[in-house]
Amino acid sequence: MKQKLIFTNLVGEAVDGLVAELGNPQIAVVADTNTAQFVLPLLVNDSKAVAGATVITVKSGDVNKNIDTLADLWKKLSAMEATRNTLVINLGGGVVSDMGGFAAATFKRGMRCINIPTTLLAAVDASVGGKTGINFNGLKNQIGAFSEPEAAIISTVFFNTLPQQEILSGYAEMLKHGLLENSEVLGKLLASSPVYPLLDPTRLLPLIEESVLVKSRIVENDITEVGIRKALNLGHTVGHAFESYSYERKSPIPHGYAVAWGLVVELVLSHMLLGFPSDVLHSFAGYVLANYGAHQITCDDYPALIADMRQDKKNLAPDQINFTLLENVGVPRININATPEQIGAALDIYRDLMHIA
Ligand code: GLY
Repeated sequence: MKQKLIFTNLVGEAVDGLVAELGNPQIAVVADTNTAQFVLPLLVNDSKAVAGATVITVKSGDVNKNIDTLADLWKKLSAMEATRNTLVINLGGGVVSDMGGFAAATFKRGMRCINIPTTLLAAVDASVGGKTGINFNGLKNQIGAFSEPEAAIISTVFFNTLPQQEILSGYAEMLKHGLLENSEVLGKLLASSPVYPLLDPTRLLPLIEESVLVKSRIVENDITEVGIRKALNLGHTVGHAFESYSYERKSPIPHGYAVAWGLVVELVLSHMLLGFPSDVLHSFAGYVLANYGAHQITCDDYPALIADMRQDKKNLAPDQINFTLLENVGVPRININATPEQIGAALDIYRDLMHIA
């Protein structure tokens, strides 16, 4: 089944249309403590279906994406006498769609759900592609299922209260999609400023649509990530290492920022190993520096960063570090191994590009 994608700022109308198409089922809206307070009231005004739904509120934040919250969610579905025919509407960021999607995938062996992302990051990433799950045993997304929602309703109407940092975080995933697609899509993104309100929501929605369609075309061909879906990991091997290490150093950086800086390092590796064009690398790095600043690292940090990269889920053997890299914009290559020496050299060049002494 292919997930339906609806891009509109008339969200209430879109929900009611979808619910009617799905036969007007009983509805459970899964929201977190933030979206229940700030977003749900807007939607209740605009959508009959949401106004009549049972609301299940979960605690916000990735720390609560766990088995206890999930069990509570299952209990609340039981209490409302949900059936396989009940429709779950996930209203929130990636934590809500991951956990609500997994609850829907597993309760009574599967119910339908739709995602209404309320952050840019969730709109361009988690709401599409059917990765659902929870953190477990100290590991992120350790338990889960590939289970595509019926649809995602993607809008910019909920973004005007998001901090600028959240917008920049989501925009980094859009930059990744631009790199994976072609020079035209990438060029449009690099010619725009992600900083709200400079990039107004009416201009943002078409860019989001283009970006989500890049992801959706990739996922469509490989839902369970045995092949080309791994291309979506571009920037994430280094990005996750930057992110984990920032937590170890107790000065956390947002996921999207880590991805933006990770993309620069992985484009350097792409240049070194696959001949990725140096002019594109330089203009991309300049854009990241201007909009995200530089993630300060020294060569003393390399061993810890490389140790974190060794933990990456994509590695196929203990002594190999596996990357998705690019031969050119729009030409990804998956399962490329780099040695610690090559990664160290790429981090040196990253520091030069980011003007780090
Ligand atoms: N976030 C990458 C993927 O959905 O495959």
